[in-house]
Amino acid sequence: MSRIVAIILQKGGTAKSVTTANLGMALAERGQRVLLIDLDPQASLTESLGVKPTDLTKSLHEALIGEAAILDVALPVGPLTLVPSVIDLASAELLMSAEVGRDQILTEALAPALEQFDWILIDCPPSLSLLTLNALTAADEYLVPCETQFLALRGLDHLTKTIERIRRRTNPRLRLLGVLPTKYNPRTTLDNEVLAELRHRYPGKVFEPIKFSVRFSESTVAGKALLEYDPKHPGAQAYRDLAEVISRAS
Ligand SMILES: Nc1ncnc2c1ncn2[C@@H]1O[C@H](COP(=O)(O)OP(=O)(O)OP(=O)(O)O)[C@@H](O)[C@H]1O
Ligand SMILES: [Mg+2]
Repeated sequence: MSRIVAIILQKGGTAKSVTTANLGMALAERGQRVLLIDLDPQASLTESLGVKPTDLTKSLHEALIGEAAILDVALPVGPLTLVPSVIDLASAELLMSAEVGRDQILTEALAPALEQFDWILIDCPPSLSLLTLNALTAADEYLVPCETQFLALRGLDHLTKTIERIRRRTNPRLRLLGVLPTKYNPRTTLDNEVLAELRHRYPGKVFEPIKFSVRFSESTVAGKALLEYDPKHPGAQAYRDLAEVISRAS
């Protein structure tokens, strides 16, 4: 059975998509079967893996509105399998909102994939939309990439409230996999204060931070995960270390 992980924070630009791509790649390097779901209508995960949304005839959109099976819209991307997104996903959300059991649509769509993958990583949009609620309802665990900036802490408070509601209403088994500090600059006092605050709020649940590096943006522009673009880079190694830690914690 798969471990389904929602990668989530409502705040924009906290490295959710970069984490989905690189953690996915690191798990695949460990011989795991990994399915990535691009749940964001911005399609940044799809583009960052070198797939052009405009070239696609089928995407997650069709799977969510019941016109295709999820595995029929999935594409191989190196060692990974990607369910791509398109801008059209926003209109799927409108159609979904009129459905019975509208929070459960992704859960139902993912059912046929559970036996085929060890990990299903869901890259969430930076908003609390119906798509995000579907991700939190389908997931077993959630992983929170959080910049070491004070504003990101506010996003976390908001997320905690959402998770409480999801646990009460649609998914009591949802649990925190951990908080991943991202874009961390160890030489900045503010970054270290935020890191300390995260560790204080989530004891034992904060992973080793991913340091700031322009190589991440460069790899995104090149349409590759950093693990593929610059496999020996310390940032790539940091995601391998994360993959090892989360593989141990079941
Ligand atoms: N550790 C890092 N150091 C420097 N830049 C990073 C790092 N991780 C990600 N980035 C860059 O930050 C930007 C935002 O990253 P990303 O798209 O993964 O964030 P996101 O949380 O998915 O954003 P959105 O909320 O818009 O979906 C990208 O340009 C990415 O290359
Ligand atoms: Mg993103």
